[in-house]
Amino acid sequence: MAENSNPDTPLSHIIREKIQENGPMPISEYMGLCLGHPEHGYYMKQDPFGREGDFITAPEVSQMFGEMLGAWIIDTWQKMGAPSNITLLECGPGRGTLMSDILRVAMQVPDFWKAVHIQLMETSPVLKEKQEYALGSYDLAHAAEWIICTESVNLQFPVIAIGNEFLDALPVDQYVFTDAGWAKKYISLKENGSFRIYEKSQDLNTDNTEKHMPNGLFKPKLGEIVEVSLEEKRINSELIKIILKQGGSILWVDYGFKNYGYGDTLQVVKNHRFSNLFESPGESDITYHINFADLADRALAKKVVVHGAVSQKNFLINLGIEKRAEILRQGATEIQRRDIDAALERLIGSDQMGDLFKVIAFTDNPNIELAGF
Ligand SMILES: C[S@@+](CC[C@H](N)C(=O)[O-])C[C@H]1O[C@@H](n2cnc3c(N)ncnc32)[C@H](O)[C@@H]1O
Repeated sequence: MAENSNPDTPLSHIIREKIQENGPMPISEYMGLCLGHPEHGYYMKQDPFGREGDFITAPEVSQMFGEMLGAWIIDTWQKMGAPSNITLLECGPGRGTLMSDILRVAMQVPDFWKAVHIQLMETSPVLKEKQEYALGSYDLAHAAEWIICTESVNLQFPVIAIGNEFLDALPVDQYVFTDAGWAKKYISLKENGSFRIYEKSQDLNTDNTEKHMPNGLFKPKLGEIVEVSLEEKRINSELIKIILKQGGSILWVDYGFKNYGYGDTLQVVKNHRFSNLFESPGESDITYHINFADLADRALAKKVVVHGAVSQKNFLINLGIEKRAEILRQGATEIQRRDIDAALERLIGSDQMGDLFKVIAFTDNPNIELAGF
């Protein structure tokens, strides 16, 4: 992570002023502003997806991804006893491509179509507009609803919640292990106004740092870094409470690691290239890698059943993506066939998204075996 950048974007001026007023800023607050500042936040003002954008996500690679998730949702709903009303919540729906592909599958199951109440949890007005457009052609039995936080999730029915590359976009903090114990990383200013990382030792009693650390970590060595997203913890905790009360399941697809470990995984991307944290606040994407071991342990502690994490490759293959690709290949032109093969490779190839991305699911019901795991 660079420590001496002196960026010049509209947001960098706002952040500088905040630091001058309030003192050093935790990385989570910096990330939250970079992605979600109402005027200058990365997601708030633009559509960053696709080949012309900064990065491409699995639903934008191919319709097959959404179709597999659609099949998973229908299967899960059937295993839940096919309730006559169900809330389908998508967190961070991007362009709405994933939900649109899911709905194309769902349309083929009339009882599900009648039952489903869609909610899309999205904070970006620009992306909300794209999502409205993507879903506009579907004749839903119950109108889709947009919400901005878990407090607005429809609590009348059982819930199936999904999210692809949602958790990794939530603000995260970094702690580094020092001689004096854990120190939290902040962003402060050098004399010339450029940003720098500042490590502040924590008073464990007042700051509750220890409480936020993942439980399964082995003894840290000096300099080791651990990442904690209180926002991710809060959202998972809220959604788990909801499925324990209403019944239901949660499915997350994201990039991350399956075993406890340390490391700086913050990643800044602009125009499909890695950038640094301070280069262009508000104009590049910032993500981090999800610790699936910790995610699973926190869910288990709340008494839900955990499936996975498994690799995206195994999940999609178990759901039949190769057969789906074969069907699409039939009747496709030579060029289309090449595109299908390339997309399949991108989604399940071990050196592409296949192994880096993981899938995990939680359910309240110990008697159902969720597909794909
Ligand atoms: C990396 S994108 C993933 C988009 C989409 N799921 C896909 O796979 O293409 C993250 C999405 O989460 C949304 N988002 C970020 N923080 C959010 C929050 N706190 N609440 C709701 N949505 C959020 C962004 O606006 C964006 O739609």
